[in-house]
Amino acid sequence: MSLQRAVVALLGMSVMAVAAADGAAIARKGAAAAVACQGCHGVAGEGVAQAGFPRLAGLGAVYLQRQLAAFADGSRVSPVMLPIAKALTKADQAAVAAYYAAMPYPAAPSAAAPARPAPPGSGAARTAAASDALPSNLGATLATRGRWSDQLPACEQCHGPGGTGVGAEFPALVGQSSAYLAAQLAAFKSGARPAGPLSLMAVVAKKLSAAEVTAVAEYYATLPARTNR
Ligand code: HEC
Ligand code: HEC
Repeated sequence: MSLQRAVVALLGMSVMAVAAADGAAIARKGAAAAVACQGCHGVAGEGVAQAGFPRLAGLGAVYLQRQLAAFADGSRVSPVMLPIAKALTKADQAAVAAYYAAMPYPAAPSAAAPARPAPPGSGAARTAAASDALPSNLGATLATRGRWSDQLPACEQCHGPGGTGVGAEFPALVGQSSAYLAAQLAAFKSGARPAGPLSLMAVVAKKLSAAEVTAVAEYYATLPARTNR
């Protein structure tokens, strides 16, 4: 019995090791007709803001896998990602999703990154919170408070404080470019992207005006990146 259990455990471990190796290989070299991911998403999964290539590092594995499946079946419309995702088997998609999910972000704290955010209740945090309420800080207000009159929760309730992501399902927003974020919000609105779990994002996106989309996308794109692990 115990031997059987040991074999099962060993098999489990070797399966995991193979999956991890595949994920790294796909990212670096590609697989079948899929070109190497890092050519566009960066060696550290950091993305290329100017080119519209999103950050993948540290996004949840379940989330990443769902996106690859959606690109492959065309429900998330992307002429670039469609052929790439389609060329990956389900096992490849799972492996490469696990690979990027385990990647720390940011890979190395950039020299330009400011000090850690002020702890809640400190003077600096209070000042920041107060300025959030100003109309000129529309993006910050939506991100940290939402708009209760319209039953619009704060983005951070699902995406975490600072937009660093929560668990395997709620992706980080910080570290993505404003153009990418705005395009995704537009896609949730138009249906060019599946509504995701419980249709949460379609509901949220439809409550945002064009000006609010721009403001909140700018807010997250300019928020200092912090490590999420
Ligand atoms: C030729 C450039 C290119 C290559 C190569 C590429 N991607 Fe992408 N990827 C993109 C673009 C552009 C988008 C944004 C698509 C959109 O607008 O929805 C994207 C989006 C994604 C997303 C969605 C991210 C999110 O935050 O929702 C995932 C996941 C992804 N790519 C995974 C991969 C993987 C895995 C590979 C390698 C097998 C890969 N990509 C190779 C260009 C590329
Ligand atoms: C009630 C929970 C919830 C709230 C509130 C919420 N989101 Fe989301 N968001 C999600 C989920 C879940 C996903 C993943 C959807 C999927 O799997 O396709 C997501 C995905 C996204 C994405 C796609 C990220 C990527 O990498 O492509 C963007 C952009 C986004 N949300 C922006 C926002 C903004 C901006 C707000 C605030 C105005 C917000 N969200 C509020 C749950 C939420």
